[in-house]
Amino acid sequence: MFERLKEKWKVNGWGLLIILLTFALAGTGTGYLGKLLMNALKVRIVWVYILIYVVVITFLWPFMVIITSLLFGQFHFFRNYLWRIWNMMTGLKKTDSQLDTSGKRDGVRLAIFASGTGTNAKRIIEHFRDHRFIKISLLVSNKQTAGAISIAAQENIPTLIIEKEKFFRGNGYVEEIRGFGIDLIILAGFLWKLPASLVSAWNHRIINIHPALLPKYGGKGLYGHHVHEAVINAKEKESGITIHYVDEIYDHGQPILQEKVVIEENDTAETLAKKVQALEHLHFPKVIEEVAKKLRL
Ligand code: GAR
Repeated sequence: MFERLKEKWKVNGWGLLIILLTFALAGTGTGYLGKLLMNALKVRIVWVYILIYVVVITFLWPFMVIITSLLFGQFHFFRNYLWRIWNMMTGLKKTDSQLDTSGKRDGVRLAIFASGTGTNAKRIIEHFRDHRFIKISLLVSNKQTAGAISIAAQENIPTLIIEKEKFFRGNGYVEEIRGFGIDLIILAGFLWKLPASLVSAWNHRIINIHPALLPKYGGKGLYGHHVHEAVINAKEKESGITIHYVDEIYDHGQPILQEKVVIEENDTAETLAKKVQALEHLHFPKVIEEVAKKLRL
Protein backbone atom coordinates (compact mmCIF):
# COMPACT_ATOMS: atom_id res chain seq x y z
CA MET A 1 0.00 0.00 0.00
CA PHE A 2 2.80 2.42 0.95
CA GLU A 3 4.65 1.64 -2.28
CA ARG A 4 1.52 2.51 -4.29
CA LEU A 5 1.12 5.78 -2.40
CA LYS A 6 4.78 6.68 -2.96
CA GLU A 7 4.34 6.04 -6.66
CA LYS A 8 1.03 7.93 -6.85
CA TRP A 9 2.30 10.99 -5.02
CA LYS A 10 5.80 10.71 -6.49
CA VAL A 11 7.59 10.97 -3.15
CA ASN A 12 10.24 8.95 -1.36
CA GLY A 13 9.71 7.22 1.99
CA TRP A 14 10.55 10.35 3.96
CA GLY A 15 8.15 12.47 1.87
CA LEU A 16 5.39 9.92 2.41
CA LEU A 17 5.98 9.92 6.17
CA ILE A 18 5.67 13.72 6.30
CA ILE A 19 2.49 13.66 4.22
CA LEU A 20 0.88 11.02 6.45
CA LEU A 21 1.99 12.93 9.53
CA THR A 22 0.42 16.09 8.11
CA PHE A 23 -2.86 14.24 7.52
CA ALA A 24 -2.80 12.80 11.04
CA LEU A 25 -2.02 16.10 12.77
CA ALA A 26 -4.50 18.05 10.65
CA GLY A 27 -7.17 15.45 11.41
CA THR A 28 -6.50 15.57 15.14
CA GLY A 29 -6.42 19.38 15.11
CA THR A 30 -9.70 19.49 13.18
CA GLY A 31 -11.40 17.15 15.66
CA TYR A 32 -10.12 19.13 18.63
CA LEU A 33 -11.05 22.56 17.29
CA GLY A 34 -14.39 21.23 16.04
CA LYS A 35 -15.24 20.00 19.54
CA LEU A 36 -14.26 23.38 21.05
CA LEU A 37 -16.49 25.20 18.60
CA MET A 38 -19.41 22.85 19.22
CA ASN A 39 -19.07 23.25 22.99
CA ALA A 40 -19.15 26.99 22.54
CA LEU A 41 -22.32 26.72 20.42
CA LYS A 42 -24.08 24.63 23.13
CA VAL A 43 -26.42 22.81 20.73
CA ARG A 44 -28.75 20.39 22.56
CA ILE A 45 -30.71 18.68 19.76
CA VAL A 46 -28.74 15.67 18.54
CA TRP A 47 -29.46 15.86 14.80
CA VAL A 48 -28.76 19.62 14.70
CA TYR A 49 -25.52 18.97 16.59
CA ILE A 50 -24.44 16.31 14.07
CA LEU A 51 -25.37 18.51 11.11
CA ILE A 52 -23.45 21.52 12.37
CA TYR A 53 -20.51 19.34 13.41
CA VAL A 54 -20.23 17.86 9.89
CA VAL A 55 -20.30 21.35 8.34
CA VAL A 56 -17.72 22.66 10.82
CA ILE A 57 -15.38 19.71 10.23
CA THR A 58 -15.75 19.99 6.43
CA PHE A 59 -14.64 23.61 6.42
CA LEU A 60 -12.07 23.29 9.18
CA TRP A 61 -10.18 20.31 7.76
CA PRO A 62 -8.73 21.92 4.59
CA PHE A 63 -7.75 24.93 6.66
CA MET A 64 -5.93 22.73 9.19
CA VAL A 65 -4.26 20.73 6.41
CA ILE A 66 -2.84 23.90 4.85
CA ILE A 67 -1.62 25.26 8.20
CA THR A 68 0.05 21.93 9.08
CA SER A 69 1.56 21.58 5.59
CA LEU A 70 3.16 25.02 5.99
CA LEU A 71 4.90 23.78 9.15
CA PHE A 72 6.22 20.68 7.35
CA GLY A 73 7.18 22.41 4.10
CA GLN A 74 4.61 20.44 2.07
CA PHE A 75 2.45 23.39 1.09
CA HIS A 76 2.57 22.81 -2.70
CA PHE A 77 1.64 19.16 -2.40
CA PHE A 78 -1.38 19.84 -0.17
CA ARG A 79 -2.50 22.88 -2.11
CA ASN A 80 -2.59 20.75 -5.28
CA TYR A 81 -4.21 17.91 -3.35
CA LEU A 82 -7.03 20.09 -2.00
CA TRP A 83 -7.45 21.75 -5.38
CA ARG A 84 -8.00 18.35 -6.99
CA ILE A 85 -10.56 17.39 -4.32
CA TRP A 86 -12.35 20.70 -4.83
CA ASN A 87 -12.47 20.15 -8.59
CA MET A 88 -13.77 16.62 -8.14
CA MET A 89 -16.48 17.77 -5.75
CA THR A 90 -17.64 20.78 -7.70
CA GLY A 91 -16.95 19.44 -11.18
CA LEU A 92 -16.17 23.07 -12.04
CA LYS A 93 -12.88 22.40 -13.75
CA LYS A 94 -13.25 19.96 -16.59
CA THR A 95 -10.57 17.31 -16.79
CA ASP A 96 -8.06 17.89 -19.57
CA SER A 97 -9.36 15.04 -21.62
CA GLN A 98 -12.86 16.47 -21.75
CA LEU A 99 -13.94 18.01 -25.00
CA ASP A 100 -15.96 21.13 -25.51
CA THR A 101 -19.04 21.12 -27.71
CA SER A 102 -17.00 21.78 -30.85
CA GLY A 103 -15.02 18.62 -30.18
CA LYS A 104 -11.84 20.50 -29.22
CA ARG A 105 -10.06 19.73 -25.99
CA ASP A 106 -10.32 22.84 -23.85
CA GLY A 107 -6.81 22.76 -22.34
CA VAL A 108 -3.36 23.06 -23.88
CA ARG A 109 -0.96 20.41 -22.66
CA LEU A 110 2.76 21.05 -22.61
CA ALA A 111 5.71 18.68 -22.38
CA ILE A 112 9.02 20.06 -21.14
CA PHE A 113 12.20 18.39 -22.36
CA ALA A 114 15.07 19.17 -19.98
CA SER A 115 18.37 17.52 -19.22
CA GLY A 116 20.32 20.16 -17.31
CA THR A 117 20.03 21.89 -13.99
CA GLY A 118 16.40 22.63 -14.73
CA THR A 119 16.19 26.28 -13.73
CA ASN A 120 14.12 27.11 -16.81
CA ALA A 121 11.90 24.07 -16.32
CA LYS A 122 11.32 25.22 -12.74
CA ARG A 123 10.28 28.72 -13.85
CA ILE A 124 7.95 27.34 -16.49
CA ILE A 125 6.34 24.88 -14.07
CA GLU A 126 5.82 27.67 -11.52
CA HIS A 127 4.40 30.00 -14.15
CA PHE A 128 1.75 27.52 -15.27
CA ARG A 129 1.03 25.89 -11.89
CA ASP A 130 -2.48 27.27 -11.59
CA HIS A 131 -3.09 28.33 -15.15
CA ARG A 132 -6.67 28.24 -16.32
CA PHE A 133 -6.09 26.15 -19.43
CA ILE A 134 -2.36 25.55 -19.93
CA LYS A 135 -0.94 22.58 -18.12
CA ILE A 136 2.49 20.98 -17.87
CA SER A 137 1.52 17.39 -18.49
CA LEU A 138 4.89 15.73 -18.98
CA LEU A 139 8.56 16.14 -18.21
CA VAL A 140 10.90 14.34 -20.57
CA SER A 141 14.58 13.84 -19.86
CA ASN A 142 17.44 11.66 -20.97
CA LYS A 143 18.99 11.92 -17.51
CA GLN A 144 17.56 10.37 -14.39
CA THR A 145 19.63 12.87 -12.36
CA ALA A 146 18.41 16.00 -14.20
CA GLY A 147 17.26 18.75 -11.83
CA ALA A 148 13.96 19.02 -13.66
CA ILE A 149 13.05 15.43 -12.71
CA SER A 150 12.90 16.18 -8.98
CA ILE A 151 11.05 19.44 -9.62
CA ALA A 152 8.46 17.53 -11.67
CA ALA A 153 8.12 14.92 -8.92
CA GLN A 154 7.38 17.62 -6.34
CA GLU A 155 4.70 19.02 -8.62
CA ASN A 156 3.13 15.66 -9.47
CA ILE A 157 4.07 16.00 -13.13
CA PRO A 158 4.60 12.66 -14.89
CA THR A 159 8.13 12.05 -16.16
CA LEU A 160 9.43 10.07 -19.09
CA ILE A 161 13.08 9.02 -19.13
CA ILE A 162 14.18 8.41 -22.69
CA GLU A 163 16.97 6.27 -24.11
CA LYS A 164 19.12 7.45 -26.98
CA GLU A 165 18.81 4.30 -29.06
CA LYS A 166 14.99 4.30 -29.03
CA PHE A 167 14.75 8.10 -29.35
CA PHE A 168 16.49 8.08 -32.72
CA ARG A 169 14.99 4.82 -34.02
CA GLY A 170 11.81 4.77 -36.17
CA ASN A 171 9.00 6.66 -34.50
CA GLY A 172 11.04 6.97 -31.29
CA TYR A 173 8.87 8.10 -28.40
CA VAL A 174 6.17 9.75 -30.55
CA GLU A 175 3.42 7.38 -29.43
CA GLU A 176 4.34 7.59 -25.74
CA ILE A 177 4.31 11.39 -25.86
CA ARG A 178 1.06 11.39 -27.85
CA GLY A 179 -0.38 9.23 -25.09
CA PHE A 180 -0.13 12.26 -22.81
CA GLY A 181 -2.10 14.36 -25.30
CA ILE A 182 0.77 16.82 -25.71
CA ASP A 183 0.00 19.91 -27.83
CA LEU A 184 3.25 21.81 -27.45
CA ILE A 185 6.80 20.69 -26.69
CA ILE A 186 9.21 22.99 -24.85
CA LEU A 187 12.94 22.38 -25.00
CA ALA A 188 14.39 23.90 -21.85
CA GLY A 189 18.01 22.81 -21.86
CA PHE A 190 17.54 19.65 -23.92
CA LEU A 191 20.68 19.01 -25.90
CA TRP A 192 19.93 16.14 -28.29
CA LYS A 193 18.99 17.09 -31.82
CA LEU A 194 15.37 16.09 -32.35
CA PRO A 195 14.63 13.23 -34.78
CA ALA A 196 12.54 13.95 -37.87
CA SER A 197 9.69 11.77 -36.53
CA LEU A 198 9.23 14.06 -33.51
CA VAL A 199 9.65 17.30 -35.47
CA SER A 200 7.04 16.30 -38.04
CA ALA A 201 4.60 14.96 -35.40
CA TRP A 202 4.69 18.36 -33.60
CA ASN A 203 5.33 20.48 -36.67
CA HIS A 204 5.64 24.15 -35.63
CA ARG A 205 4.69 23.09 -32.11
CA ILE A 206 8.16 22.67 -30.60
CA ILE A 207 9.96 25.64 -29.04
CA ASN A 208 13.60 25.87 -28.00
CA ILE A 209 15.54 28.41 -26.01
CA HIS A 210 19.18 29.11 -26.80
CA PRO A 211 21.51 31.25 -24.66
CA ALA A 212 22.87 33.39 -27.53
CA LEU A 213 21.74 35.50 -30.44
CA LEU A 214 21.24 32.88 -33.14
CA PRO A 215 22.29 32.24 -35.86
CA LYS A 216 25.60 33.09 -34.16
CA TYR A 217 26.93 30.72 -31.48
CA GLY A 218 24.52 27.88 -32.14
CA GLY A 219 24.86 24.31 -33.35
CA LYS A 220 26.34 21.11 -32.05
CA GLY A 221 28.66 21.51 -29.06
CA LEU A 222 27.46 25.05 -28.42
CA TYR A 223 25.35 24.80 -25.31
CA GLY A 224 25.48 26.12 -21.75
CA HIS A 225 28.85 27.59 -20.73
CA HIS A 226 30.46 26.66 -24.09
CA VAL A 227 28.27 29.31 -25.70
CA HIS A 228 29.26 32.03 -23.24
CA GLU A 229 32.95 31.14 -23.48
CA ALA A 230 32.81 31.38 -27.27
CA VAL A 231 31.01 34.74 -27.09
CA ILE A 232 33.53 36.17 -24.57
CA ASN A 233 36.53 34.82 -26.53
CA ALA A 234 35.19 36.46 -29.70
CA LYS A 235 35.01 39.79 -27.77
CA GLU A 236 31.39 40.34 -28.72
CA LYS A 237 29.75 43.52 -27.46
CA GLU A 238 26.38 41.88 -26.87
CA SER A 239 24.76 38.51 -26.39
CA GLY A 240 21.28 37.41 -25.37
CA ILE A 241 18.65 34.75 -25.84
CA THR A 242 16.83 33.31 -28.81
CA ILE A 243 13.49 31.57 -28.47
CA HIS A 244 12.58 29.82 -31.69
CA TYR A 245 10.46 27.11 -33.27
CA VAL A 246 12.38 23.89 -33.83
CA ASP A 247 13.04 22.30 -37.17
CA GLU A 248 15.29 19.42 -38.11
CA ILE A 249 18.45 21.53 -37.95
CA TYR A 250 20.11 22.04 -34.58
CA ASP A 251 19.49 25.52 -33.06
CA HIS A 252 17.65 26.56 -36.20
CA GLY A 253 14.02 27.36 -37.01
CA GLN A 254 11.84 30.47 -37.09
CA PRO A 255 12.74 32.90 -34.29
CA ILE A 256 9.97 33.97 -31.93
CA LEU A 257 11.89 36.34 -29.68
CA GLN A 258 15.41 37.62 -29.23
CA GLU A 259 16.46 39.72 -26.24
CA LYS A 260 19.90 41.24 -25.82
CA VAL A 261 22.33 41.95 -22.98
CA VAL A 262 25.33 44.26 -23.17
CA ILE A 263 28.70 42.63 -22.51
CA GLU A 264 30.91 44.83 -20.32
CA GLU A 265 34.72 44.83 -20.53
CA ASN A 266 35.06 42.90 -17.28
CA ASP A 267 32.39 40.30 -18.06
CA THR A 268 33.45 36.66 -17.93
CA ALA A 269 31.64 33.58 -19.23
CA GLU A 270 30.20 33.16 -15.71
CA THR A 271 28.89 36.72 -15.34
CA LEU A 272 27.51 36.64 -18.87
CA ALA A 273 25.80 33.31 -18.13
CA LYS A 274 24.03 34.93 -15.15
CA LYS A 275 22.82 37.88 -17.24
CA VAL A 276 21.56 35.58 -19.98
CA GLN A 277 19.88 33.25 -17.52
CA ALA A 278 17.98 36.18 -15.99
CA LEU A 279 16.65 36.99 -19.47
CA GLU A 280 15.66 33.37 -20.04
CA HIS A 281 13.72 33.16 -16.79
CA LEU A 282 11.99 36.45 -17.49
CA HIS A 283 10.90 35.82 -21.06
CA PHE A 284 10.61 32.08 -21.70
CA PRO A 285 7.43 31.36 -19.68
CA LYS A 286 5.68 34.42 -21.16
CA VAL A 287 6.57 33.45 -24.73
CA ILE A 288 5.37 29.89 -24.13
CA GLU A 289 2.10 31.24 -22.80
CA GLU A 290 1.59 33.39 -25.90
CA VAL A 291 2.28 30.47 -28.25
CA ALA A 292 0.04 28.11 -26.23
CA LYS A 293 -2.80 30.65 -26.25
CA LYS A 294 -2.67 30.78 -30.05
CA LEU A 295 -2.93 26.98 -30.20
CA ARG A 296 -6.19 27.18 -28.29
CA LEU A 297 -7.85 29.59 -30.74
C1 GAR B 1 19.75 27.19 -20.87
O1 GAR B 1 20.64 28.25 -20.78
C2 GAR B 1 19.33 27.00 -22.32
O2 GAR B 1 19.31 28.20 -23.03
C3 GAR B 1 20.40 26.07 -22.82
O3 GAR B 1 20.59 25.16 -21.78
C4 GAR B 1 20.43 25.88 -20.54
C5 GAR B 1 19.62 25.03 -19.60
O4 GAR B 1 19.65 25.61 -18.32
N1 GAR B 1 20.02 25.45 -24.05
C6 GAR B 1 20.86 25.27 -25.08
O5 GAR B 1 22.03 25.56 -25.03
C7 GAR B 1 20.22 24.65 -26.31
N2 GAR B 1 21.11 24.69 -27.43
P1 GAR B 1 18.68 25.12 -17.18
O6 GAR B 1 18.84 23.61 -17.07
O7 GAR B 1 19.16 25.82 -15.95
O8 GAR B 1 17.30 25.50 -17.55
